[in-house]
Amino acid sequence: AMAHRDTAMSNAVLGPGELTPFVDALPLQPIAKSMGTRVNPEHPSEQIPYYKIAMREMHVKVHRDLPATRVWGFNDSSPGPVFETRSGEPLLVEWANELPLKHFLPIDYTLPGAEKSVPEVRSVVHLHGGRTPPDSDGYPEDWYVPGKSAVNFYPNQQDAATLFYHDHAMGINRLNVYAGLQGMFLIRDAVEDALNLPSGKYEVPLVIYDRFLRKDGQLEYPVSAIPGKPWVPEVFGNVVLVNGKAMPYLEVEPRKYRLRILNGSNARFYRLSFDNGHEFHMIGSDQGLLESPLTLRRLQLAPAERADVVVDFSKCAGKRMQLVSDSLQVMQFRVAAQGGADTSALPMKLRAVERIKETTAVKTRLLTLDEHLNLADQSMDMMLNNTPWHMPVTEKPVIDTTEIWEFVNLTEDTHPIHLHLVRFQILDRQRIDTNAFFDNRTVSFMGSVEPAKGSEAGWKDTVRADPGTLTRIIVPFKGYAGRYVWHCHLLEHEDNEMMRPYEILAAEPQKAGK
Ligand code: C2O
Ligand code: CU
Repeated sequence: AMAHRDTAMSNAVLGPGELTPFVDALPLQPIAKSMGTRVNPEHPSEQIPYYKIAMREMHVKVHRDLPATRVWGFNDSSPGPVFETRSGEPLLVEWANELPLKHFLPIDYTLPGAEKSVPEVRSVVHLHGGRTPPDSDGYPEDWYVPGKSAVNFYPNQQDAATLFYHDHAMGINRLNVYAGLQGMFLIRDAVEDALNLPSGKYEVPLVIYDRFLRKDGQLEYPVSAIPGKPWVPEVFGNVVLVNGKAMPYLEVEPRKYRLRILNGSNARFYRLSFDNGHEFHMIGSDQGLLESPLTLRRLQLAPAERADVVVDFSKCAGKRMQLVSDSLQVMQFRVAAQGGADTSALPMKLRAVERIKETTAVKTRLLTLDEHLNLADQSMDMMLNNTPWHMPVTEKPVIDTTEIWEFVNLTEDTHPIHLHLVRFQILDRQRIDTNAFFDNRTVSFMGSVEPAKGSEAGWKDTVRADPGTLTRIIVPFKGYAGRYVWHCHLLEHEDNEMMRPYEILAAEPQKAGK
């Protein structure tokens, strides 16, 4: 292992196999309830639902055999309540910061935005995948301290999809999310209604995330042994939690279920499968339904990626099966011997997903993902386009235009790259000679073009950029002009400079003479 990956880890963490799996029932988070109505900021003659959700510290049992764990959540729940919303029906959420004044996880004051001069506890909420106006989007520097709140407007002018909300505060986002500040946000629409997919208690949101648990039940967040640079490049926990419980079980009937899966981990990628090889049907990705179901036995999910999946347990009556990620236990399904009739469907046509033509792009941007090893202390710097956060905005697409963004990954890791506001399509990937790129910034291809297919052929908001590879996406910039961000969704990377602002311009600016 490289020195920069060494961490000062408390020896009180749980060892492998120390927790008995499948002893706690899978919790289902409450549905968020509105507290009345307020004026629609875009149409002042109209009243829209108003929610108030408070970020709070709480102690929760994550496992039968562990003392309660200190976590952060929303209202009384961690992960937070599930929003059930409909396309075209806007709403307002007042996010109230009622957290304590001190963080319980180790803060790294050397990170940008996390200096000692800044209040230790601060938060701002972002709706991931939402087409949200810029002042409601949770810009990382728009954080607020305990006792303050922000009212965000979510227009929901977008197709049905599995979205999620989470903290996005500058320099501290990885700790706030690790503490528990995330939750699901579902948008439904008429296209989805018409499909007769499994619903009600047969539709189950699964927020999957790993945590480092100590023997006393408390969260451990590793820090590096490098003096003055406690930042660790990624955190992998020793236990997988689903909806707030470590390796829970769910009792199901022998019939179809719809699982809305979110990888809510800071850094871990999952390769989900059933231990008995049972197949499942992926019906949607980050930004909603695929064109048609995709039958899979294994599903890869990077941090922040979502999968909408239908599993048919009808041939598994009386069995117990595990959802695993390679050798990691995620959860167990206990299939009852019998159940009622299943009137739900798994239609072969879900919705039309028209491929965007490359010829519609007005601009192509070549953007690098970079890492630099500091030889003096073996610490690692990571950036987008070799540019730190505070430098002026360089990516300025014009509203209602389409661009191709090409990510050249010059690092040794896969990075899940996320753009706020927009949905996009993945075009293709191709291996490149990184040495040639370092020498003279030319892209020289080494392998064949791999077009996006299968689970990646639908609308996305997060794309895996593999090392030594050029990954191309095509992005229609629709919705709002203003300041947004794009970043790596490995939260440790995001906090340590792998995030950049971008700005959508209202109209084509005057061409400056050369
Ligand atoms: Cu899931 Cu910038 O966020
Ligand atoms: Cu990254």
